[in-house]
Amino acid sequence: MYDQNERAFEELQEIIHLNESIIKRYLGSQINRREIYSLILDKILRGEGCGLPLGPTYAIIAYKESNRGKLIGHVYKRKNNKVETVLRNVDFGIDFKDILCGNENDIYWSNFTHNKETLDEFQTSFNNVLKIVIGEPITNYLAHKIETLEKHGIVIVFNYEKMVSVFDSLVFKGYVTAFESFEIAKEQIRDRDLAHLEVFTRIQMLAEKKDPATTGKHIERVRNYSKVLAEEMSRWEKYREQIDEEFISQIYKSAPLHDIGKVGIPDKILNKEDKLTVEEFTIMKEHTLIGREVLKDSERLKMACDIALCHHEKYDGSGYPFGLKADNIPLSARIVSLADVFDALSTKRPYKEAMDFDTVKNMLIADSGKHFDPDVVLAFCKREKDIRKIMMKYAE
Ligand SMILES: [Fe+2]
Ligand SMILES: [Fe+2]
Repeated sequence: MYDQNERAFEELQEIIHLNESIIKRYLGSQINRREIYSLILDKILRGEGCGLPLGPTYAIIAYKESNRGKLIGHVYKRKNNKVETVLRNVDFGIDFKDILCGNENDIYWSNFTHNKETLDEFQTSFNNVLKIVIGEPITNYLAHKIETLEKHGIVIVFNYEKMVSVFDSLVFKGYVTAFESFEIAKEQIRDRDLAHLEVFTRIQMLAEKKDPATTGKHIERVRNYSKVLAEEMSRWEKYREQIDEEFISQIYKSAPLHDIGKVGIPDKILNKEDKLTVEEFTIMKEHTLIGREVLKDSERLKMACDIALCHHEKYDGSGYPFGLKADNIPLSARIVSLADVFDALSTKRPYKEAMDFDTVKNMLIADSGKHFDPDVVLAFCKREKDIRKIMMKYAE
């Protein structure tokens, strides 16, 4: 009894730690399905209580994409106390009942017991696919459905090294709840991100109405160029810490807002086809500061604010509004700055013709370390093919 209590205490602690570490990852927006799944599976399959390997040997996680869809899932195994993925994307059939041995409850388990039937007879309660993927006689199992806002699934574990008990089912339920809360959070974060993107795009559409240079295609090209450049740099050791998945998704959302401050610039300056006078240019430069006013003081719009304020700064300190130099210019703004200038030069505007790709590329190279961050120019050269593709895809 003492051992049982001690084990219960340990399991409870494990479940609490697991949920805490998942919540920490939500807060950092670093939701990576593979990482979370291996974290949870490690707990389920490790299954040690008071130093004894009491957990199951196999686990299956399968989901249905729709009501009529098939149950597709992966098979995992504990080997030397490590979790291995043994099979991916196995088709377990259409009906939950097939895989659940006709059982419709949320959670259930069964043990093979010698006095009732033979081991062979016990195997007849399982679906053929299941028997093949497990590849050894099933002696017991525990199953729990996973219900999220959009998905229906199941986690099944097999072959505990002892009889499965009510206690095991409760521990298992604790872990399955972690899967459910992760999936629900993931769905909600995706919806939230889509809503943000939508709002960002609408705000930008408003600015487009005012500025003839800021067409919808310009916005699409600049956000895609910026994304490719950031992706390229994220692979370099130097930027591994700074540019993660979140940075790339943020720059894609934020780049379109670089000229949002132009809403505050008089039409006669914005629409002027001749060269601006010194006074007019001074007013024009204010679009960076107006952009900051519109976007400041919001954690979600932090990158958009940096970009709007600093996309006309130059690497050598000769830009505006502050004359910031090199690393003092936010990285996001250094990337968008090159994307924006490249697009301005390589496309036709009311006051000028388009230049060809190679001419513009050579201009960027010549301006490396002056106007542009040399690393961003290097990323541009490395991803020339992708840049050309974007240019073609969103041509006017
Ligand atoms: Fe601008
Ligand atoms: Fe622009």
